Amino acid sequence: MAVIIDGKKIADKILDEIKSKVSKLENKKPSLAVILANDNPSSALYVNSKEKKSKSIGFNSFVYRFDKEVEQGTIKNLIIKLNNDPNINGILLQLPLFNHLDERELIELINPKKDVDGFHPINVGKLNCGLKPYAKCCTPKGIIRLLKEYSIELTGKNALVIGRSNIVGKPVAAMLLNENATVSVAHSKTKNLKEHTLRADIIISATGCAHLIKADMVKKGSVIIDVGIVKKDDGTLLGDVDFENVKNVAGFITPVPGGVGPMTIASLLENTYELYLEQLEN
Ligand code: GUN
Repeated sequence: MAVIIDGKKIADKILDEIKSKVSKLENKKPSLAVILANDNPSSALYVNSKEKKSKSIGFNSFVYRFDKEVEQGTIKNLIIKLNNDPNINGILLQLPLFNHLDERELIELINPKKDVDGFHPINVGKLNCGLKPYAKCCTPKGIIRLLKEYSIELTGKNALVIGRSNIVGKPVAAMLLNENATVSVAHSKTKNLKEHTLRADIIISATGCAHLIKADMVKKGSVIIDVGIVKKDDGTLLGDVDFENVKNVAGFITPVPGGVGPMTIASLLENTYELYLEQLEN
């Protein structure tokens, strides 16, 4: 039976540490601005939860919500205003956006030093060069932190990332490579996924396909990190991994919920705090 990786506990520890540091600040508090320009209920939930957690640790949180009539120019002007506002430390553009909006143009307009998601090409480029980005993408950063908290060795290990999104798959692959893992990336066009999963010491699955990973697809003792989250009609949440069966084969496994999810928010607030400190110095 695998060790269950407790993301909630580690996220709470990170947030408590930041809260305690923030309570001692005499000058202005770290401030996060979030832009929500879609009507997807999950995004609204994520944004509400980011706002609540930010406030609970003493940050200022500003959320800008737009309806589907919003024009690209309105969001561009808001980003320019936030870039120039010395009271804002981090800017988060919640993805996805309404279809008519140009995501690339908006991401590239965010000042890389306020890019709390690490999505700007300057930050992506730094990460891929093995340099320190101003901020590292939140979910991948949270995953690496979980692996380190559980003292899971990465050097020389076969790590398989499933999914090639700019939000999770590609940046986590870059981070694992920076940690000296031997990294493969599988995706929707990959043939014989099982051949790849059976070779992996570590699997990071970020597809959103409920229970894609079954017990007979994983190597005994391997580390299974589940980034997927799908809500069924009855409200239950399912990950990419068939947790109940895979946990009998794996060495370590993250649950859904309570695994990677809480770490994403903890990393976001940690990034906001780090950007705040850097901006204080300049
Ligand atoms: N949508 C899903 N995950 C994320 C994330 O980490 N950041 C942003 N901005 N949007 C997302």
